[in-house]
Amino acid sequence: MDITFLKRLATTSIGRKALMAVSGLLLGGFMLVHLAENLLLFKGEAAYNGWVDLLASNPVTPLLEIGLLLIFIAHIITGVWVRVEDFLNAPSGYEARNWQGGRTIGSATMLYTAAAVLSYLTYHMLTFRFVDHSMGFYQMVTGAFRSRAFVVVYIAGSAALALHLSHGMQSAFQTLGLNHPKYTPLIKIGGILVAVLMTGFALISVYYLLGIDLKAAEAGYQVVIIR
Ligand code: HEM
Repeated sequence: MDITFLKRLATTSIGRKALMAVSGLLLGGFMLVHLAENLLLFKGEAAYNGWVDLLASNPVTPLLEIGLLLIFIAHIITGVWVRVEDFLNAPSGYEARNWQGGRTIGSATMLYTAAAVLSYLTYHMLTFRFVDHSMGFYQMVTGAFRSRAFVVVYIAGSAALALHLSHGMQSAFQTLGLNHPKYTPLIKIGGILVAVLMTGFALISVYYLLGIDLKAAEAGYQVVIIR
C-alpha cells in the first residue's frame, strides 16, 4: 500500500475515523471466521485438532497473524484517538460525541465494552495461545470450559463483544459513507445479527461446562461407525 496514503489516513481526523471503521469491520469478519472455526469443536477432537494443525502448518498463517495483530493495534489506537479528539473538540456542556445511528446502549457503552473486550482477549491469549499445546487443542479448550470461573469470563466477555458490535458494525458503514435508504436498514439488521452471533462463543463454553458432550457420548450419540 502507498505509504503517503497511509500517512494521510493517520494524520487527518476523517482518515483516522475511516481507519477505525475499516479495521473494525475486518475484526468483525475475523470474529465470524473464528466462531465458525470453533464450531468444529462439535465435530469432535479429530476435526478440531486437524483444522488447527492445518493452520499451524500453513506458511501463510504467521503472516495472517501479524496482519491481524496490526489491525487490532490500528483499531485500538484510532479508537482512543478519535474519542479523545471528539472530547477535546466538543463545546463544554455539549454532548461529547455525535452518535452515528442514534444513541443506544451499544453506542453509549462503546468505551467500556472496548475495555472489557480487550481484557477478555488478553485472558483468552494467556490461556489458549501462549501456553503449552502438547495435550492437543481440543483437550485444552474443552478442559478449560469445564471450569465455572472460565465460563463466567467467556459469558461476560462475549456479552461485551456483542454489545460493542451491535453499534460498531453499523456505525462503521456510516463512517465510510455507505448510506442508502434501501440498504441502511439491511446494514443495521446485519450488524445486530453479527452481534447476536458473538454470544455463540459463550454458548460453546456453556455447552462444555454443562457436560452436554459427555452426556451425549454416554447415551451413545457420538460415534457411529458404519462399515
Ligand atoms: C468459544 C470460544 C473460543 C475458542 C474455543 C477459541 C479458541 C482459540 C484457540 C484454541 C486459539 C489459539 C490458536 C493457536 O494458538 O494457533 C485462539 C486464538 C485466537 N483467538 Fe480465540 N477462541 C474463542 C473465542 C475468541 C474470542 C471471543 C476472541 C476475541 C475477542 C478470540 C480471538 C482470538 C485471537 C485474536 C486469536 C489469535 C489468532 C491467531 O493467532 O491465530 N477468540 N482461539
